[in-house]
Amino acid sequence: MNSSVPGRLDRYLKEAQAMLAEREARWRRAKRMKFDTLAVHGLYTMEEAITKNQGAIIEPLFLASAQAYRDSDELEAALSYQIPTWCYTRIHNPTLGYLEDTLALLETYGSDIRAGCCVYSSGMAAIENVTDTLLVRLGDEPPNFVSQCQIYGGTFQQFNVRKFQERGIEVRWVLKPEDVNEWRKRIDRNTRFLYAETPSNPGLQFFDLKPVIELAHEYGIPMVVDSTIASPALLRPLTIGADIVIHSATKVMSSSGMGMAGAVIARQPIVTSIPNEEMKADFALYLKRYPQRDQGGCLHPFQALMTLNDLRDLRHRVDLLSRNALTVARFLAAHPKVLEVSYLGLESHPLHSVAKRYLKLADSDENRYTHLLAFRVKGGPEKTRQVFDRFRLIYRATDLGRIKTVATIPAISTHLLQGEECREMACIPPDLIRLSVGAEDPADVIADLEQALSGV
Ligand SMILES: Cc1ncc(COP(=O)(O)O)c(C=O)c1O
Repeated sequence: MNSSVPGRLDRYLKEAQAMLAEREARWRRAKRMKFDTLAVHGLYTMEEAITKNQGAIIEPLFLASAQAYRDSDELEAALSYQIPTWCYTRIHNPTLGYLEDTLALLETYGSDIRAGCCVYSSGMAAIENVTDTLLVRLGDEPPNFVSQCQIYGGTFQQFNVRKFQERGIEVRWVLKPEDVNEWRKRIDRNTRFLYAETPSNPGLQFFDLKPVIELAHEYGIPMVVDSTIASPALLRPLTIGADIVIHSATKVMSSSGMGMAGAVIARQPIVTSIPNEEMKADFALYLKRYPQRDQGGCLHPFQALMTLNDLRDLRHRVDLLSRNALTVARFLAAHPKVLEVSYLGLESHPLHSVAKRYLKLADSDENRYTHLLAFRVKGGPEKTRQVFDRFRLIYRATDLGRIKTVATIPAISTHLLQGEECREMACIPPDLIRLSVGAEDPADVIADLEQALSGV
């Protein structure tokens, strides 16, 4: 390799140190701000706007595949990660950085935890990158992991088919996640992590995460939590001890429903038995630098800006959608044609009290129970389909977290591929309608439900 011009690399290293110190000061300043302020501003400041971006009050969109460097020394320092630059959009991009900073701040809100974030093209890409990175083979025996079985159908397929059936990486299902002993029984020396989805989609399974996190740490492994449904406006698993949080940012974080995104927010450091200090110290940065760089799955900068824009009023939107969902759940619970309603906000729900302990709207003492509910229609799957087919305002779509109310029948859509046996294991009956309540006036959503139910 050619030698560099004397002193040039040193200059770049010093610049990098100054940049990191300035960033650290911004992070510390941001940590004194409230949730809504962080959702609106993230780490983007007036100074940055004026000195670097011609005063643009909105974070700029960097639609460039790559970054140019001043000379070979700066290029080499960048690509060997000696200086913080963005290089190439598959590795990083400044617009992705704005979204990542905001998500790291929101997920650690109310604590002094340090965390990094890496965003992805979808929630599934985020799940795959996290889990595959942790499932390294150490020695002769294959790795395994333990997961609750009540998870989103795509995640179930990724774990059961892609990892287990196709690659022989064993997923060990926990049927009753509230039972710490069941988790304990499934762990052995090759278990790399525990995986939870709270609340789960569509069953709204919820449990006390703390003892399970403690169990993971007792075995020196990380607790990974998919927190898509709650969002940081209601629950921040890192602040109760989890190591890694995953989001399908496609959902309530991007409520306008125009695109896909995924995110990983990881504590610095995570607990892990994998002997890789770089991975342990800053897992999100590690994902960005190596697995994502090598495997792709990066988010498009335009979508990053769209998601960032949707995030700004996250807390207010989650508040509104949750209040609407409670109103709709109460209506359904009293309806003579409805067999059962599953909504964590209903006092009759068996998991209401544990949900009440955890699901609180940020910066308030008030409980909110998310936008998601599920209900069963009396008369079985056929009647359920008839009701579903009669919706006029409520969209029939495999989607949730939208500004518009959407419904699906998980057994014939999101959870179709996992088969009847696995659906039974995950408590997803064929007559279940999942309803993601939007921002419409709940009276109109109720009117649509009423006409659909009364017509069958
Ligand atoms: C809880 C949960 N996690 C992950 C995903 C996957 O996210 P994406 O659709 O962004 O790939 C979904 C999708 O519905 C989900 O509901």
